[in-house]
Amino acid sequence: MTNPIAAIILAAGMGTRMKSDLHKVLHPIAGRPMLLHLIDNVRVLDPERIVVVAGARREQVEAAVTPLGVEVAIQAEQLGTGHAVRQAEAALSGFDGDVLILYGDVPLVSTATMARMVERLHSDGEPSVVVLGFRPADAAAYGRVIADKDGRIAKIVEYKDASADERAVTLCNSGLMAVRSADLFRLLAQVTNDNAAGEYYLTDLAELAVKDGRGAVVVETAADEVAGVNSRAELAAVDASWQAKRRVQAMAEGATLVDPATVWFSFDTKVGRDVLIEPNVFFGPGVSIADGATIRGFSHIEGATIGSGAEVGPYARLRPGAVLGEKSKVGNFVEVKKAVLGRGAKANHLTYLGDAEIGAGANIGAGTITCNYDGFFKYKTVIGEGAFIGSNSALVAPVTIGAGAIVGAGSTVTKDVEADALRLVRPEQQTKSDWAKRFREMMAAKKAAK
Ligand code: UD1
Ligand code: MG
Repeated sequence: MTNPIAAIILAAGMGTRMKSDLHKVLHPIAGRPMLLHLIDNVRVLDPERIVVVAGARREQVEAAVTPLGVEVAIQAEQLGTGHAVRQAEAALSGFDGDVLILYGDVPLVSTATMARMVERLHSDGEPSVVVLGFRPADAAAYGRVIADKDGRIAKIVEYKDASADERAVTLCNSGLMAVRSADLFRLLAQVTNDNAAGEYYLTDLAELAVKDGRGAVVVETAADEVAGVNSRAELAAVDASWQAKRRVQAMAEGATLVDPATVWFSFDTKVGRDVLIEPNVFFGPGVSIADGATIRGFSHIEGATIGSGAEVGPYARLRPGAVLGEKSKVGNFVEVKKAVLGRGAKANHLTYLGDAEIGAGANIGAGTITCNYDGFFKYKTVIGEGAFIGSNSALVAPVTIGAGAIVGAGSTVTKDVEADALRLVRPEQQTKSDWAKRFREMMAAKKAAK
């Protein structure tokens, strides 16, 4: 693409049906606000400017997009999609190129489709307006695109304003458009609100472009790509369609998903080759899994780096800062937070490892707890290479267990242990022969006497 590109993303709608305090376009899909998915996809085209048009809760939108260098224009009153686009005029002043108009609540439009729309502006007849159309299973109340077989549009008619014949048309308007900046605001100035909704319709640009000479054309895409989010149910449906694609991609890249439909990825999950993922696994943001790792069922994993050949779960919880070395093991009912396990280290059962460094080959027994928090501050536990921590030990941080040391089962360790030493923290064991038998006989006699 040779011309400069800008994008206008409409997001001033009220989003009432979400019944939420969070702006609709900030609800996450695969752990990332839907608006940012869209911005990620536009950015691949290297746009000169991106402007989001927001109304209510604009401060939430600003907080999300300002760090990305995206501008926010305000539409104080929702007077229609055409009016909304006009609010971006000041933010685009001095820009001369192609403008993509997108909806913040139609988040999964691909870069390829955006590129196809912009390219169509410059091919065959150089139309003034390119509209993205689709054919949904149920055309419902979408605007209808009235076009000939070559995709040349006569007009777009809103459902409310459409005749019975027009409503029978199956080609629908996704709402997305590409228009040159030189045409966009000139044509928009001619849009009126003389229609059933009393709104300024962006869709009127199609007919105005026909009158203007170079006309409007439609390019089509699959319905799932332009699925919109108006409710929590639609949010779940769009997330599900994102997940379905991501699972197929993970498998295509060499991961085995035993029951793909039960594995949930985040937008940034990295999955290597020959990774095995068992059923019912959830990945939050910030996870990377190296080649040959196994993630067993029912594990919840976020912010974790999993080394090659490592084994996780079943029922493991990896929280941010968990770094598992090559061939290390984190077994059932083990929680790991901000802790590094060296190569081949193992914590196989029922353990909490937080703010810890665990050396290569160390063995952490069942029920070991790093006591990292005193109610005010967090402290670190360091366990040396090859150390052996006996079951049910409490390691009260800050504490260091030297390389090769052994901590006896049931110990509460509050002082450092030197390398290769044994630390036992246990009371002496007492034995009273026949005490239990005598106790039982005495109690039985008492009960009988009552
Ligand atoms: C619009 C299209 C319709 C299309 C449909 C696809 C028009 C006139 N109609 O209808 O042809 O089939 O989308 O979903 O364009 N918005 C604002 N400010 C406003 C109004 C809307 O920012 O004043 C934003 C909304 O936040 C939303 C988008 O524009 O992201 C579409 O608005 P919506 O009210 O859903 O338009 P529809 O009536 O569904
Ligand atoms: Mg709508």
